Amino acid sequence: MIVQLTFCQTCTQNSFDFLNMVNELEQTYPHDLCVVQLNCIAACDEVPAVIIDYDFIPNISAAELNQKVLGHVKIKEMMQEMTSAA
Ligand code: FES
Repeated sequence: MIVQLTFCQTCTQNSFDFLNMVNELEQTYPHDLCVVQLNCIAACDEVPAVIIDYDFIPNISAAELNQKVLGHVKIKEMMQEMTSAA
């Protein structure tokens, strides 16, 4: 199960901590994370903002992004284990 991380590339192009964390997450979870960069996610006043699967999170820090993605990856792993065991 893939976690989808969506953000606005226009608003984050100078957010180097944020972008470095996205790169780090892509390297950490190469098979569990799909990064989608759009031109706008209608959160122009709350950047950096992300959508992780269906969760919208405004004004997220790099550290918070790391924790949120980790949480979603773990939930998906647990769901996959439960469906595999059934
Ligand atoms: S232009 Fe970046 S969220 Fe709208």
